[in-house]
Amino acid sequence: MRAVDIIIKKRDRGELTREEIEFFVKGFASGEIPDYQASAFAMAVVLNGMTPRETTDLTLAMAHSGQMLDLSDVVDFAVDKHSSGGVGDKTSIVVLPVVVACGLPVGKMSGRGLGFSGGTLDKMESIPGYRVDLTTEEFKRQLKEKGIVLSGQSLDLAPADGKLYALRDVTGTVQSIPLIASSIMCKKLAGGAQAIVLDVKTGLGAFMTTLEEARQLASLMVDIGKLAEREVVALLSDMNQPLGCAVGNALEVIEAIETLKGGGPADFREHCLHIAAHMLVLGKRAKTLEEARKMAEAAIASGAALEKLRVLVEAQGGDVRYVDDIGRFPPAKFIEVVKAPRSGYISQVHARAVGEAAVALGAGRTKKSDPIDHAVGFVIHKKVGDRVEAGEPLFTVHANDAAKLAEARLAVLNAYAFSDVKVEPLPLFYDG
Ligand code: URA
Repeated sequence: MRAVDIIIKKRDRGELTREEIEFFVKGFASGEIPDYQASAFAMAVVLNGMTPRETTDLTLAMAHSGQMLDLSDVVDFAVDKHSSGGVGDKTSIVVLPVVVACGLPVGKMSGRGLGFSGGTLDKMESIPGYRVDLTTEEFKRQLKEKGIVLSGQSLDLAPADGKLYALRDVTGTVQSIPLIASSIMCKKLAGGAQAIVLDVKTGLGAFMTTLEEARQLASLMVDIGKLAEREVVALLSDMNQPLGCAVGNALEVIEAIETLKGGGPADFREHCLHIAAHMLVLGKRAKTLEEARKMAEAAIASGAALEKLRVLVEAQGGDVRYVDDIGRFPPAKFIEVVKAPRSGYISQVHARAVGEAAVALGAGRTKKSDPIDHAVGFVIHKKVGDRVEAGEPLFTVHANDAAKLAEARLAVLNAYAFSDVKVEPLPLFYDG
């Protein structure tokens, strides 16, 4: 078999066999198939798609490209969550401590930013010293001893996805239902989760812009999970506008800490409580979503959830003083409040435009080797449905470069749309 023939077959809309998919994934993981062939393969999949059978085979091949973690000796039942990616999505930083405080241990492997969508690992690295490169042994030990882990994919876990994910980020090959479904599910399968809450985002700032596509992605992932004998719940959540207010790595960590302290934006808090409740029910810590939600609220109110974030940060080498005092996060050089150019109701805060503007400020990457500027980003003050008067603060830009600040200001102003008539706020979740 030759990699080039497999690329050509997919380019010409052929259906790949399991053997061909396994050959390609193995070869790529081992380094025999170079990045440029994997990029071409990914683009062929973006353009021509994959059948559910091919997608399942790709998922399993990527999951088996490394070690398959067995957490049964560490936790009685492993529940995990994963988001399909969005703008301002710092959910894991809140949800993990909340559910752990409610008695459900969670070890989660997260990803880095992908295109305009942020990544939890990049965010957590805003905390000096925080390690995201735990080995499998460290991951398991920490899960057993502390009950909470938030790390990157260890090198021996689904390594084919680790490599492909980084390539897709910079080759325009993120947007594909089979590639996203296989990328998310291979990590969850290899990571040893027995039950998974999937937060499938839909809207302008999601990889799936329509509800229909998001439903397809959700049902494909649920089917892959079933085949692998895992319990999977897929929630569809709105990503037309950024989630919460903060977009940008340290800014998002700060917002997550504020939320764990009982503050934070109402939409973000609500989103986190809903996801946490589903995890607690799947993990059999609560019988109903209502009961689970009350537990989650109590964990925030009592400070128990915040304490779990401290435990997490400390266990992974991070400077816990940043959790205790958000004033320690180094501010960007320029912080500018941008005022509303007119009065009206906000009818749009284009999430993708905001995400792209954040990447342009340095919060994300345009090349694999790009460093991340943790301090830059935005705080959105007015969201869809809000009334604003001309001259009121609309958003704040945090930038480290004056020219980039000017571009970012314009880009986010253009992300806004105004209406003279009242606009309903966007829903947080959609029916499945
Ligand atoms: N999250 C992932 O883990 N992979 C994708 O491809 C998209 C979002």
